[in-house]
Amino acid sequence: MLNQRIDSVKARCLEAVSAAIDSRQLNDVKVRFLGKNGEFTALLKSLKDVPPAEKPAAGKLLNEVRVMLEGAFADAETSLRLAEKAARVERETLDVTLSRYDGKQGALHPLTLVKNEIVDIFLGMGYSVVDGPEVEYAYYNFEALNIPEDHPARDVIDTFYITDKILLRTQTSAAQVHTMETLKPPIRVISPGKVYRPDDDATHSPMFQQIEGLVIDEHITLADLKGTLDEFAKRFFSSDTKTRLRPSHFPFTEPSVEVDLSCPMCHGEGCRLCKGTGWLELLGAGIVNPAVLEMSGIDSKKYSGFAFGMGVERATMVKYGIPDMRLLFDNDVRYLRQFR
Ligand code: DAH
Repeated sequence: MLNQRIDSVKARCLEAVSAAIDSRQLNDVKVRFLGKNGEFTALLKSLKDVPPAEKPAAGKLLNEVRVMLEGAFADAETSLRLAEKAARVERETLDVTLSRYDGKQGALHPLTLVKNEIVDIFLGMGYSVVDGPEVEYAYYNFEALNIPEDHPARDVIDTFYITDKILLRTQTSAAQVHTMETLKPPIRVISPGKVYRPDDDATHSPMFQQIEGLVIDEHITLADLKGTLDEFAKRFFSSDTKTRLRPSHFPFTEPSVEVDLSCPMCHGEGCRLCKGTGWLELLGAGIVNPAVLEMSGIDSKKYSGFAFGMGVERATMVKYGIPDMRLLFDNDVRYLRQFR
């Protein structure tokens, strides 16, 4: 009689265990059979009503079934927990197609973008990039560039001196001298970098950037300079851009020129940006003065060269029609963001 009830409870309990689909259901089953008022617990309690002669056998059987059922619950618990964990791992995988976190993203400053663009154009023409010191000897900034003691550019109102022989360079042309001292012709380099002058207004800043160019080889002429800068202007501004050379004077070039650019805003018609002339001044350039070549140990009978120096801020302002250089230094991100 009791044995039959035990078999029946055991069978239903095992069936319910294997039917449970999660640990919550399994726990309900456990309460229903093994809990304080559970069906199997009731059988244990009924042992006291069993005739004494049958007690040992009934007790033994009940105990075996209890151990067996507890084992079944433990096994089911383990496998349900593993399955639930696997399901959670599956559910929580990262969906890379979700829209991105809309946080703040940094960007390069427009002056850096323009500098990189200019450098890239010259790299594409086969130039290499050289660096020069910003704290410079007066010799490299002036003497070796044929700028004599009494030249106005050397005046304290035009130059930040550290000692009377050391200064913050006023032009990247100083890097030309280092290049000629260390490289042998043919030379074809550009040198971007910061320069310093005590100026501060809408079109001048005490620190600004230049890109120097220097080419030295046999038979270099002004036509090579014109062709190079014309090609540069077409790539940097637009393919219909024209350049023109105007006579100028720099101690380190002979002849010297200013290179003008047809106004990128009105394409030569005349507008506010070019003050009605159709032309904008872009940079200074020329044929390297033979005296400069000789001072740096290059044979001026065999070699000639051209050089140019371009302002990065100026090129940026011309390209984007920016009226005031200070807009590029104030660093108001609302202004800078439009160049991204
Ligand atoms: N260094 C000159 C300046 O800062 C620019 C310049 C003119 C550079 C002529 C050159 C050059 O290399 O040939 O105004």
